[in-house]
Amino acid sequence: MTQILTTPRAAPARSTRTRHYVMCPPTAFEVVYSINPWMDLTNAVDTGLAQAQWQGLQDVYRALGHRVDLLGAVPGLPDMVFAANGAVSVADRTYGAAFAFPQRQAEAHAHVDFLRAAGREVQRPTHTNEGEGDFLVLRDVVLAGHGFRTSPDAHREAEAALGRPVVSLELVDPRFYHLDVALGVLDDGWGDAPADIAWFPGAFSPAARRTLRRLFPASLECSEAEALAFGLNLVSDGANVVLPTESPELARTLQDRGYHPVPVELSEFVKGGGSVKCCTAELHR
Ligand code: ARG
Repeated sequence: MTQILTTPRAAPARSTRTRHYVMCPPTAFEVVYSINPWMDLTNAVDTGLAQAQWQGLQDVYRALGHRVDLLGAVPGLPDMVFAANGAVSVADRTYGAAFAFPQRQAEAHAHVDFLRAAGREVQRPTHTNEGEGDFLVLRDVVLAGHGFRTSPDAHREAEAALGRPVVSLELVDPRFYHLDVALGVLDDGWGDAPADIAWFPGAFSPAARRTLRRLFPASLECSEAEALAFGLNLVSDGANVVLPTESPELARTLQDRGYHPVPVELSEFVKGGGSVKCCTAELHR
């Protein structure tokens, strides 16, 4: 009888660099309207637990050596904790957000004021888009989702505003209403390794799947269960991948791929339809 010996795959060395994040405290966070399938008005947020979990995420970033700036929460804007949606910033350029739902529209102004006060130039959008919820930044390309929140016209506008090619990807499953819940950037391609992503094919149209497989032939394709656990709503610095504790299988896969998974508990934010990446805006290189 032939015995199949499996040798553990040698993990490639991953390289990291210091990141600059922006987070917004969850002081106004609650679920008082429902604009995605995760938001259930009968499932109340535990405010104390949310604050502790959010603080835990911030502590992880700081412990990894990253810079975290804080954007002040605005009373009456409960989703502002999902700071990723307020803009997309690449090098010295920022493209502002224009939210799809009226409940969140005022958040865009708070982001513009904050970023301008920090010395950044912000281009105000003319088309609906939800910042890094639907724009994921890599060195050579910006991946952009449409279908639920961000309009394809905003993809073209962002390309001009950011000066980096934008690749449009159609999202087809309402549970994955933003690109950042269906796809996570593991390596943005600035180091020695090629750019690397993890994604759930079922969230994308057939054309978008073909595009992603062509651009990233060695990408990590994840299961629906991993995506539903918000495992793809991750933040990576190229080596350390911060992801929700509810995705232990994905954490193991990432480890085999040479990354260092850093699980964080963010269960309260799933009640709003978000996790790690949603709570984290990045000012990209
Ligand atoms: N409740 C928010 C919304 O539906 C959640 C946003 C999550 N953010 C994200 N980057 N996916 O707009």
